[in-house]
Amino acid sequence: MVRQKRYYNYDFLVIGSGIAGLSLALELSEIGKVAVLTKKRDSDSNTNYAQGGIAAVTAETDSFESHIDDTLRVGCGICKRQVVERIVRSGPENIQWLSRLGVDFSSKKTSPGDKGAEDFDLGKEGGHSQNRVLHVADYTGRAIEHRLLRASRENDNIDIYENHIAIDLLLGIHIIPPATRGRDIRICYGAYILDTDEGRVKTFRAHRIILATGGAGRAYYHTTNPSIATGDGMAMAYRAGTPILNMEFVQFHPTSLYTPSGDTFLISETVRGEGGRLKTVDGRRFMEDYHKDMELAPRDVVARAIDAEMKKTGDSYVLLDVTHLGGQFLQSRFPNIYRNCLKFGIDIAENPIPVVPAAHYFCGGVGVDVKGQTVIKNLYACGETSSTGMHGANRLASNSLLEALSTARLIAAEIKENFPRKDEGKHPRIRKWIDEEVFDHQEWGMISHDENTIRRLMSDYVGIVRSDKRLNRALERMQILARDIEEFYQNNPVRADVIELRNLATVAMLVIQSALERKESRGLHYTTDYPETDDKKFKHHTEIRRTDFTKLW
Ligand code: FAD
Ligand code: SIN
Repeated sequence: MVRQKRYYNYDFLVIGSGIAGLSLALELSEIGKVAVLTKKRDSDSNTNYAQGGIAAVTAETDSFESHIDDTLRVGCGICKRQVVERIVRSGPENIQWLSRLGVDFSSKKTSPGDKGAEDFDLGKEGGHSQNRVLHVADYTGRAIEHRLLRASRENDNIDIYENHIAIDLLLGIHIIPPATRGRDIRICYGAYILDTDEGRVKTFRAHRIILATGGAGRAYYHTTNPSIATGDGMAMAYRAGTPILNMEFVQFHPTSLYTPSGDTFLISETVRGEGGRLKTVDGRRFMEDYHKDMELAPRDVVARAIDAEMKKTGDSYVLLDVTHLGGQFLQSRFPNIYRNCLKFGIDIAENPIPVVPAAHYFCGGVGVDVKGQTVIKNLYACGETSSTGMHGANRLASNSLLEALSTARLIAAEIKENFPRKDEGKHPRIRKWIDEEVFDHQEWGMISHDENTIRRLMSDYVGIVRSDKRLNRALERMQILARDIEEFYQNNPVRADVIELRNLATVAMLVIQSALERKESRGLHYTTDYPETDDKKFKHHTEIRRTDFTKLW
């Protein structure tokens, strides 16, 4: 019999292989051994799908002040200015870092070669007062992910574990003997990880643990997010007792492709930036009724306008018309979108594109300080899973790739300065994962329907326009579902689909509870019961924190 390894020991454990996780791993590899865990293939991430680009001040006509002002204005009064300033000012340096890795941002010139700042082709998106979005055609995320992965795979200090899904963080209760005597129980030591190829749970121990697990768009029925986006990091951190902030601010992208089958993909905001026009199915341009910036109003405004028009007309979608831009331009500027629409039988040079809003980005997440540190010692979070204070109540388009990269590199810089600390000890002994019962397939048959139920419930009751009545109804139903799922999880051997379902249920509960706390409308949270913004009572973050560790809900 082959003896199985008891522990996987590293200096740094990075959970997630998107822009946040990989850039952090590359930086940390300079001072120690890094494990990058990722639950599917290494490129499966939201990063890989990013289209529009990455916002940064590179043009001479632009300024940090203007980017900062746009971010704060769109964030509706609750961004953390210090964080916004730091991230925005780091933009040009982070672009250079990506360029050095080989990311070849689109240039105004057609000839290849070294680009001066003024040569970048800069896109425009909603809420930006300037053209400042650097892009690689309309597949920016794929280009970035490709370069980060290539560098990480070639790096001897980085081990990438594909098909390894994190279940939970290792805390004081998991060490032998349990850390109640003398040792601080609020320390993270690593994570329990399910190797889905081998079907067994492994114990990874590390001196620093970083959650870079991305967002949770899969909590909704219509979403632009791939299947990995189940909010695992947010749920793990919540279970560990970390404050989870601002979960009510779920950003709906105004324009995802509508298809009767429900298959969808994003139609980038830069399509509107280049002149795309929103129209009702009978051809009426409607954005002039909602905002002076028309199609380039902030996302919450455009998504609510589309929602209102669909409710008025009873149609299942509106149209995004780009036929006036010409086939040649469309094919060179948006090759990915052009090709994907053709697969669904839509030649966008000839016909308008049917679009609907879809859950896209979570502005809230694991609460961290300006250095990405959570309240638990040695545990950090960055990228979409975290809430740094950059986005406030609404994210400015293309600010998330920048935030993820900038925060990851800042965390790495901070760790590099202080690693190893004087108090750095050996890894503690950890309790073995026990998983002996037999999986109850019959019961699972019923439970697995719950994923669909959660996603429908969230779209129907916790979507773009909310009310207390709907939120309370969602809460009642989710409480029952979440408890059933938890009970099933506790009583059955662990599996990836159960882990994800449990996390989705947690995320749904967090969104509903946060939305019920905010008795006003602000940014992405709009409720018909309190349609005004109430700065006196609510100009602050919402925070949900687990206090009773004997039960989850
Ligand atoms: P991700 O890139 O999502 O990476 C998360 C990683 O964690 C994945 O590797 C995943 O497999 C892994 N993971 C998750 N849970 C576990 C677990 N339990 N165990 C192990 N691994 C786990 N933003 C912009 O700024 N500009 C854009 O143009 C843009 N376009 C977008 C287009 C689309 C279609 C989408 C969906 C998003 C877009 N965004 C854009 C948002 C942006 O892509 C994301 O916010 C950003 O990529 C998040 O990066 P991340 O590293 O935090 O997470
Ligand atoms: C897009 O291309 O529209 C997505 C940009 C973003 O989400 O920041």
